[in-house]
Amino acid sequence: MTRRVGVIGAGTIGASWAAYFLARGFEVAAYDPAPNGEDFARRFIDTAWPTLEKLNVVQAGADRKRFEFFKDPAAATKGAEFVQESGPEREDLKVDLFASLDAALPPDIVIATSSSGLLASRVSVKCKHPERCVIGHPFNPPHLIPLVEVVGGAKTSPEAIDNAMQFYRDIGKHPIHIKKEVKGHVANRLQVALWREAVHLVAEGVVSVADADAAIAYGPGLRWALMGPHLTFHMAGGEGGMKHFMDHLGGPIQGWMDDLGQTRLTPDVQKKIIDGVAEEAAGRNMADLQRWRDRKLIDILKVSGEP
Ligand SMILES: NC(=O)c1ccc[n+]([C@@H]2O[C@H](COP(=O)([O-])OP(=O)(O)OC[C@H]3O[C@@H](n4cnc5c(N)ncnc54)[C@H](O)[C@@H]3O)[C@@H](O)[C@H]2O)c1
Repeated sequence: MTRRVGVIGAGTIGASWAAYFLARGFEVAAYDPAPNGEDFARRFIDTAWPTLEKLNVVQAGADRKRFEFFKDPAAATKGAEFVQESGPEREDLKVDLFASLDAALPPDIVIATSSSGLLASRVSVKCKHPERCVIGHPFNPPHLIPLVEVVGGAKTSPEAIDNAMQFYRDIGKHPIHIKKEVKGHVANRLQVALWREAVHLVAEGVVSVADADAAIAYGPGLRWALMGPHLTFHMAGGEGGMKHFMDHLGGPIQGWMDDLGQTRLTPDVQKKIIDGVAEEAAGRNMADLQRWRDRKLIDILKVSGEP
């Protein structure tokens, strides 16, 4: 029997999840209240499919026609073994949506939200079975980026976490388990920690927006496509690894850490960044940038062996 996933909310993220689940051989039952929701999702899937084929993500027997669209969230959960919710990032809306999904589903089915920053404890507050609710936070676009952050709430059971981790692993994603609920989960906090310093350096006139970006894209960013900062610095320690790195550079780096900026996004600072990034884009519109990014991203994914 073909395995079935419920996709609740089929905008930018939900439609991308739908394309990925279909490529991994699932039936996808989607719900979205937008008048053009079905059209948008079907067009998204059709556009993503050739890319997924190029990346060898499409499994033998997978068929993008196994996509059904419903105008009722409960109908889209029927027979699903896993539900991925990707509705708007509003706590009140997700609380009610989760309550209705919870009421419609058998208690052992995991409901995961793609939420970028809300907490599972809050989103599941009206559920009878909060133990099966988790954050399953992907990165845009989820049909290409392997990382999924799995976070439980105060009442989430260890089994639900295990099931979610196993589900994402089985479909070829790279899930990580975040052990405590924190605002923004982990990867976005790391991105924002770096961006805070980039904004600070621009605001202080140390560097232009374009050169701050170049400092990442042509330097550390190339290594970060392969490994994170810890392994990078372990290797920077040579034969002595991280221990030598700490002994040798720990002191100076502590000094740099202490010197990092605390810039706030005041209107003036915002304007500097907005003007700077427009200059950096050099007339390329968003569609141009997206096409360029996706082409490069596909090349990187092919080289790095992911997804
Ligand atoms: N865009 C990103 O980069 C990104 C990345 C990771 C996670 N997320 C998260 O994914 C979720 C969706 O974000 P998005 O960027 O796809 O937004 P989006 O606006 O593109 O899509 C949201 C969809 O939800 C639908 N919707 C509205 N009310 C709904 C309801 N009551 N029930 C179900 N669906 C409803 C909308 O019609 C829309 O199609 C958010 O929680 C967001 O935090 C976004």
